[in-house]
Amino acid sequence: MSDEIAKSDRFDDRVALITGAGQGVGRQAARIFAARGAGVAVLDRVKERAEAVVAEIEAAGGKAIALGADVSSEEEIGKAVAETEAALGPVDFLVANHTIHPCGTVLETEPVEWDLMLDINLGGTFLASRAVLPGMIERRRGVIIGLSSDCVVRSCRDAAAYVASKAAINGLIRSIAIDHGADGVRANIVTPGVTKTPGLEQVYTNNRDLDESTARAAGQSPMNRIGLPEEVAEGIAFLCSERASFITGAELLVDGGMTVSYSGD
Ligand SMILES: NC(=O)c1ccc[n+]([C@@H]2O[C@H](COP(=O)([O-])OP(=O)(O)OC[C@H]3O[C@@H](n4cnc5c(N)ncnc54)[C@H](O)[C@@H]3O)[C@@H](O)[C@H]2O)c1
Repeated sequence: MSDEIAKSDRFDDRVALITGAGQGVGRQAARIFAARGAGVAVLDRVKERAEAVVAEIEAAGGKAIALGADVSSEEEIGKAVAETEAALGPVDFLVANHTIHPCGTVLETEPVEWDLMLDINLGGTFLASRAVLPGMIERRRGVIIGLSSDCVVRSCRDAAAYVASKAAINGLIRSIAIDHGADGVRANIVTPGVTKTPGLEQVYTNNRDLDESTARAAGQSPMNRIGLPEEVAEGIAFLCSERASFITGAELLVDGGMTVSYSGD
């Protein structure tokens, strides 16, 4: 068997810090990383959600800690990284998965909502990356994953600030890939399509009828369904694994072909 074929998807003796991991894609990523041997720091602004995910991981025999922190606070993210290192060891993988939800067109978006979106989605990815990069560079090992959106590829209505924040995350992650590739750090983008998560359900319920919106989104996909959070999490895990050792600055679409499908009438 060649060395290439022997590469593992295991994360034994590795540590993952996953933001917004209290539900949805982040929760499934936390469960997958733990099942493959990583110690996982489950970070969410809502600490009870993080604690519930940690309980699931521990019940399955995995190792995890719950962190209640707001990624847009440099102080809180710094403390979270320090707590992770003290409890689990140095951070090998940062999955910047947190998000807040779309809030309308440019005219419907108050400047304060614009600032909040940019501070959390983009600023949180920046601050978390800034907190883990020095250790990764020192150890010459690490992977950072930023979560983008199908909305950046094909654009979406009523989500101006969200789409702008996600497009900027693509630029930020590519910059990290270029600036720190020679330091042994890889950085990649995972771009989910419409995915069945509590966050999506909240957006659909706020705007319209949940079942009707889900059926419409499913109808836009060549696979005739929306994605599952564990399917996006598998893409994240792949890009962090040794199997992706020469992949950096890349974008992985996990969207069931939605963005290449013509959805006009
Ligand atoms: N679900 C989809 O259809 C979809 C589509 C495209 C992209 N995405 C992206 O995939 C990622 C996961 O999406 P999801 O649907 O699972 O999200 P979700 O809304 O279900 O969960 C997001 C989590 O982030 C946490 N969070 C929010 N603000 C935070 C902050 N300031 N600090 C720490 N935690 C915070 C929330 O408490 C929540 O638990 C997001 O980045 C999202 O933009 C999702």
